[in-house]
Amino acid sequence: MARGCFITLEGGEGTGKSTQAGRLTERLRRTGLEVLTTREPGGSPGAEEIRALLVSGAVDRWSALTETLLLYAARADHLERVIRPALNRGAWVVCDRFADSTRAYQQGAAAGLLSALEKEVVDGDRPDLTLVFDLPAEDGLARAAARGEGATRFEAREADFHERLRAAFLEIARADPERCAVIDARPRAEAVEAAVWAAVQTRLQP
Ligand code: TMP
Repeated sequence: MARGCFITLEGGEGTGKSTQAGRLTERLRRTGLEVLTTREPGGSPGAEEIRALLVSGAVDRWSALTETLLLYAARADHLERVIRPALNRGAWVVCDRFADSTRAYQQGAAAGLLSALEKEVVDGDRPDLTLVFDLPAEDGLARAAARGEGATRFEAREADFHERLRAAFLEIARADPERCAVIDARPRAEAVEAAVWAAVQTRLQP
């Protein structure tokens, strides 16, 4: 059985990643593939418990270093118990956020630590394709606020933080064009879905 493909969706708050993860999953399933849709932080029972620690509470509850270690503890469990077994049985995995989010959001952690954790925890399971959803930070925050679920710890950060996030995701995509495709997240969901599908078909031929 050939190994499945690993697709990650990345971007700032309110970029529509989660909606698009669902739509992409449906399209891939229609081709007859087994598809597992998952998310980070979370995706396994243990990692979902860690997620609860990360997304709620005061903005300054954790330092960037502590956040990074919690995120990687969650990521290791998610990879071991969910992602790796799925890829090995030939399923495709669509994951809403992954290691690029740590690079973008936990910019206060030392770059050397991020690289070392990525190597140790992720190594053979780097994504085959990463879709980077790009949207002006203020548009994304407005969309996230319109969901009416109350701001998470990360949404509550200042505007500058969200602008830096957008720049960081674009820089990640620029530095690794073979893996990353930037998706303009401003149009209606149907148009974004078509752009996502075009990128997946061109790069992975499902
Ligand atoms: P979500 O809102 O996309 O489900 O993600 C939850 C929050 O977790 C989001 O605000 C971004 C944040 N996050 C990080 O800060 N670092 C990470 O590595 C990941 C995966 C998420």
